[in-house]
Amino acid sequence: MQGNKIVEGIKLPRHIAIIMDGNGRWAKKRLMPRSFGHRQGMERMVGLLEHAFDLGVEYVTVYALSTENLKRPQEELAGLYDLIRKHFVSYMERVCARGVRLRVIGDISPLPCDVQEILRGSEQKSAHYEGKGINVALCYGSRAELVRAVNLAVARGETVTEASLSGLLYTAGQPDPELLIRTGKEIRLSNFLLYQCAYAELYFSDKMFPEFSDKDLEDAIVWFSNRTRRFGKTDEQL
Ligand code: IPE
Ligand code: IPE
Ligand code: MG
Repeated sequence: MQGNKIVEGIKLPRHIAIIMDGNGRWAKKRLMPRSFGHRQGMERMVGLLEHAFDLGVEYVTVYALSTENLKRPQEELAGLYDLIRKHFVSYMERVCARGVRLRVIGDISPLPCDVQEILRGSEQKSAHYEGKGINVALCYGSRAELVRAVNLAVARGETVTEASLSGLLYTAGQPDPELLIRTGKEIRLSNFLLYQCAYAELYFSDKMFPEFSDKDLEDAIVWFSNRTRRFGKTDEQL
């Protein structure tokens, strides 16, 4: 397993996972519709992704829409799909230009067909890049991901090991997230990367996602760098 890069004395997480929560409340506070919060959130997501890769992080997984979010009002969902239609391709081109491969993780089959095509097309454009990756979790649920993985093994007549199960998840071949950041004041995982984050350092920010700045990301990374990661061992064994 490859080690962590050290930049100016700070240990960088190889993989960061972000639960981008608080768009709706951020907009509401400004007497604006929730869709305005999602627009600003998408803009911020791109800025944070660019900053993370520029710092030297190798993988970032962002939670953009959960399986449970599909139960939201149709109007809100339609607004989110329109954002993807208008901005996803150009935004992802901007980030992927850093040699980053995009993967959309989750079961996107409930999305409108044209939106699915945009997402798959966007993935193909960066499919030749190796070594750095963005996973955009859309219609994603960790439990559904695990059930899918186990069913893949069953269909092959296999029993699973920890390593083979990891290899059947959407994040196959990637290092596990080492730092998980959740904005929006809630202290929960909301069905995100439950298996992969077994040993992630968990960072919760009171800021709503649209106001989570590049500097806030750096603060989270510095906090990560100062954690003692024991993985079950004692301090003396490290
Ligand atoms: C997160 O922000 C983005 C999505 C779930 C699409 P929310 O929309 O959950 O914002 P809050 O939590 O209501 O403020
Ligand atoms: C988690 O946020 C999902 C995403 C950020 C995409 P939610 O707003 O859906 O989480 P809960 O419902 O408050 O747990
Ligand atoms: Mg929320």
